[in-house]
Amino acid sequence: MKSVPRAEFARRRRQLMRSMGRDSIAIVPAAPVRLRNSDVEYAYRQDSDFHYLTGFDEPESVAILIPGRAQAEYVLFVRDRDPTRETWDGRRAGTAGATGEYDADDAFPIGDIDEILPGMLENREKVYYAMGTHPDFDQRVVGWVNGLRAQAKHGRHAPQEFVALDHVLHDMRLFKSRAELAMLREAARIGAAAHVRAMQATGPGRNEYEIAAEIAHEFRRHNADHSYLPIVGGGENACILHYRENDAPLREGDLLLIDAGCEYQKYASDITRTFPVNGRFTPAQRSVYDIVLEANLAAIAKVRPGNHWNEPHDAAVRVITQGLVRLGLLKGRVPTLEKAQAYRRYFMHRTGHWLGMDVHDVGDYKIGDEWRVLEPGMVLTIEPGIYIPANARGVPKRLRGIGIRIEDDVVVTKSGCEVLSGGVPKRAEEIEALMEAA
Ligand code: GLY
Ligand code: MN
Ligand code: MN
Repeated sequence: MKSVPRAEFARRRRQLMRSMGRDSIAIVPAAPVRLRNSDVEYAYRQDSDFHYLTGFDEPESVAILIPGRAQAEYVLFVRDRDPTRETWDGRRAGTAGATGEYDADDAFPIGDIDEILPGMLENREKVYYAMGTHPDFDQRVVGWVNGLRAQAKHGRHAPQEFVALDHVLHDMRLFKSRAELAMLREAARIGAAAHVRAMQATGPGRNEYEIAAEIAHEFRRHNADHSYLPIVGGGENACILHYRENDAPLREGDLLLIDAGCEYQKYASDITRTFPVNGRFTPAQRSVYDIVLEANLAAIAKVRPGNHWNEPHDAAVRVITQGLVRLGLLKGRVPTLEKAQAYRRYFMHRTGHWLGMDVHDVGDYKIGDEWRVLEPGMVLTIEPGIYIPANARGVPKRLRGIGIRIEDDVVVTKSGCEVLSGGVPKRAEEIEALMEAA
């Protein structure tokens, strides 16, 4: 499967409209074009909610869902065809494309929205809209509703209620379909191949940016791109959790931490591996590495239906706390240290997050006060780490400046879980063998 089939977008719209009910309307804007500097744009990335419902990737578009409306339940406002603009900026689907290729029941030029949309809002009670996501657009939505309210004495009826569209939609997005899982599998396969390539290319004297370039090359040659800014951190740079510079020389005897994932057909992978620059772990590095690996494996073993969201994290915390005690970095009884969260000096982030169209994907982690129970089709990362700063006090010198994270992408299945990022090794011996053969 090369992309999510067209019928699936229609299924999502139907599902959303069913849960909205007939007295409502949903308004979903495309992502705005964003400027990088002067008149130079960032590569356009469609809003994930908008894409999820439409599959339509042009900017300046708005999708409207009006359940039960006789003329048209699904309306797209899109950029009009324009030969001059298309010569400069690229092809547009236009209104004919919106109905013909993207299954809108009706489509209008985006320039006509102020005229047409208020009529669609009339006589609907609830407006499903994700307030706060695109602040400039919020103003326009409020303007349309207030415009109608002002005309109440002329017999026009304005909606009475705003409902958080994201709440409904994000719960749908949390459960991945077969087609979505196929995209995530591919994103993880390409991501893992990039990490293998990085391991093969790494050696003392090379620079972090050269290894970053290997990763970018592997992504792009598979029609994928970064799903977030990659982290390529040698030595103590690995202890900076969001290290971005990626421009330091790689030194003999150091580790290299790479956190890089790609986006394929709008679906993300998010993978971290940590390995020795020269291809051989030192005993000190290995003593920390094996704790993180054990935490990664223990957490993955907790990913199965019926377990709650925090169980993998609890398992990782247990292994890491025990390991830090063995290393002499924490002193005391393990349960007491866990309760006091003493591990947070060296493991200061959580063990994972939902993964999907967004790298930190949508979906609630708690329902009320309770951690969410894992169900088949949910996808998450497992990413424990230990980071011992170079200037850490009271820490043996051989352990200072070591930063290690091992991150995998995991799907909850009916009987347990499937690890998507297994295409790149994580056992120390396997990494050493791979690097030796390079
Ligand atoms: N790369 C972002 C994360 O691991 O959450
Ligand atoms: Mn992650
Ligand atoms: Mn990551």
